[in-house]
Amino acid sequence: MKNKNRIYCTLLLLFAILSSCKNEGEYHSVSDRIAAEEVPYHGTLSSEELLAGRDLIKITEGDHIFLIPERKSQIKSFACIECHSKPLSQMKEPDKTKAHWDITIKHANIETMNCASCHNPQDMNNLRSLTGSKIDFDLSYKLCAQCHNTQFKDWKGGAHGKKISGWTPPRASMTCVECHNPHDPGFSQRWPAQFNTKKAIERKEGLDH
Ligand code: HEC
Ligand code: HEC
Ligand code: HEC
Ligand code: HEC
Repeated sequence: MKNKNRIYCTLLLLFAILSSCKNEGEYHSVSDRIAAEEVPYHGTLSSEELLAGRDLIKITEGDHIFLIPERKSQIKSFACIECHSKPLSQMKEPDKTKAHWDITIKHANIETMNCASCHNPQDMNNLRSLTGSKIDFDLSYKLCAQCHNTQFKDWKGGAHGKKISGWTPPRASMTCVECHNPHDPGFSQRWPAQFNTKKAIERKEGLDH
């Protein structure tokens, strides 16, 4: 009899431990997790600040004339010809780590998309279109537009991508590569950085009373 009681007690204790939520990194609900990991918002992050000191260039695409930020100052390994002054075959050093080891392509499938789809080994300082003509790094949206016509049309009209500053002219817009990494353009899922916890708490308190 005593033994049976002991087993019951042990089981009860185990259940209590397992069902308690005191373990670190565990939350009762999704909103608890967001509330705990929330990044405080200070209300200062504006596109003007994001683009401070960047030159804007004027582009004309069909009926649309607007400004986009230049890119070259943001590309850390530009100018490419500082290294790419000779053919690739002469640059490869088998014993060394690859120069661009940190770049892996996660864009369409590898048969259709490789370095040479967009870069020209004979002219690294420029991008290359599918038909072989050169595209300036500042105008890389032209590269994307070849295959993503729907998004390109939306972007021209101001529906895809973000307008910089307000609606008053001159219009300025972020360019594709400000948001999408050309080598890996998709976005992975992530937790929202902001959550209106005040509302949620008020709602919960309302239910408790
Ligand atoms: C500091 C030197 C350096 C700079 C700057 C540089 N590269 Fe390279 N790159 C190399 C070397 C060395 C190779 C030869 C292959 C290797 O080591 O991976 C290479 C290879 C490449 C390849 C071929 C990769 C492959 O796997 O076939 C591409 C494409 C490329 N570079 C593009 C660029 C572009 C575009 C820029 C400018 C935005 C640039 N590189 C700037 C050193 C450089
Ligand atoms: C879909 C087209 C596309 C493909 C495929 C592609 N690139 Fe790029 N790459 C770009 C564009 C566009 C930029 C300029 C991005 C920007 O403005 O920040 C760029 C930038 C770069 C840079 C400069 C980045 C930096 O910050 O220093 C290097 C180096 C580079 N590419 C190498 C490669 C190599 C190596 C491959 C193959 C493994 C490759 N790229 C494949 C379009 C492409
Ligand atoms: C040669 C054609 C080609 C070019 C050039 C090209 N893409 Fe793509 N892109 C594709 C294909 C094919 C897919 C895969 C479509 C699919 O899965 O439905 C894709 C997928 C994407 C996706 C969705 C990725 C995802 O995982 O959801 C984005 C975003 C994207 N591309 C942006 C760009 C940007 C930005 C550029 C210019 C720097 C660009 N692409 C240039 C062909 C291209
Ligand atoms: C201000 C940021 C921003 C700019 C600029 C931008 N995009 Fe996007 N793009 C996004 C977001 C956000 C998504 C949605 C991703 C998701 O739902 O996972 C997206 C989705 C896409 C997709 C995937 C298909 C879809 O509609 O969901 C493609 C392809 C794409 N963009 C291409 C482009 C091209 C080409 C340009 C330039 C002409 C561009 N984007 C400019 C933010 C941007």
